[in-house]
Amino acid sequence: MGSGPPVRLRCPDCSKSMGPLAMGPDDSRPACPGCGRVFVPADGVWDLLPRSLEAAKSNEDEAHVEAGAPTWRRLFLHKRYWIEWCDTRWLPGLVDGRTRSFLEIGGGLCYASALAKSRAPQATVVATDVSPRYLRQHALRTGDILGTPADAYAAVDAETLPFDDGQFDAVYSQVVLYRLPDPSRALREIRRVLAPGGRYLGVERASPWLAPFAAPEARALDARAAEQGTRERPIRYREWRAILADAGLGPECLSPVPGERVGAPWLRRLGNAARQIYVAIRIAR
Ligand SMILES: C[S@@+](CC[C@H](N)C(=O)[O-])C[C@H]1O[C@@H](n2cnc3c(N)ncnc32)[C@H](O)[C@@H]1O
Ligand SMILES: [Zn+2]
Repeated sequence: MGSGPPVRLRCPDCSKSMGPLAMGPDDSRPACPGCGRVFVPADGVWDLLPRSLEAAKSNEDEAHVEAGAPTWRRLFLHKRYWIEWCDTRWLPGLVDGRTRSFLEIGGGLCYASALAKSRAPQATVVATDVSPRYLRQHALRTGDILGTPADAYAAVDAETLPFDDGQFDAVYSQVVLYRLPDPSRALREIRRVLAPGGRYLGVERASPWLAPFAAPEARALDARAAEQGTRERPIRYREWRAILADAGLGPECLSPVPGERVGAPWLRRLGNAARQIYVAIRIAR
């Protein structure tokens, strides 16, 4: 377990502070002093979700459970490039030997948490996703396969973070905000839980802005969202700007991620007319 500070909880139902989350063999169960709800882990995963969760969020639990694919297959076939990018491009600027606490939001397999733990063994690493089933079936196993599991795994809604203010040195999410009903609310929550001097990095997609190129992607995403009952949707660069503005964040917090072939950010913006690019959302406190 990390020697970083303990994670301090906040009730997802009534927002009262609840004290530290017990990690490891300690069997104490945090109870909310406001509403009395007691929080317990099931099979290694804490349930820190609000009691009432919109259907679009609870449907995520089903949406990512494709029949049968074992964890190793998901990791090494479906996600191998993502894992490499995460490890070589995105985590190095966020996590280092001074990081004392790391939070991953919407982690899915939560390989970013395992990679963060391997970069910063001293840190307390908390891996979260809205889907408890996905965490139980795949994130725990991913931690074992990669050899550096997170210190805690918890089902958490990105829009209602069950953590007290100002405590994480580093917060990370990867292609998560585009499927939230209210991504600005999640960004406000992320800023709230960042420690002074802490940083957030979110990697997201920006959809093409010219209609003939945007339309096929929009049709595919909309059809899948309708079938699965989720809120995933295409978001264009200027829409990301508006989402950030709604969270009180300026345009300097959004940038196109330089690519291998098209390094210049302005050229990538131009290319974004016809194809999807990646964008980075950065918050520093
Ligand atoms: C496209 S997947 C990305 C998973 C992982 N970050 C990766 O890059 O491999 C989106 C993830 O966001 C999670 N998610 C969706 N809605 C969420 C919410 N309201 N709060 C937290 N996570 C959510 C999903 O369960 C899913 O695991
Ligand atoms: Zn409560």
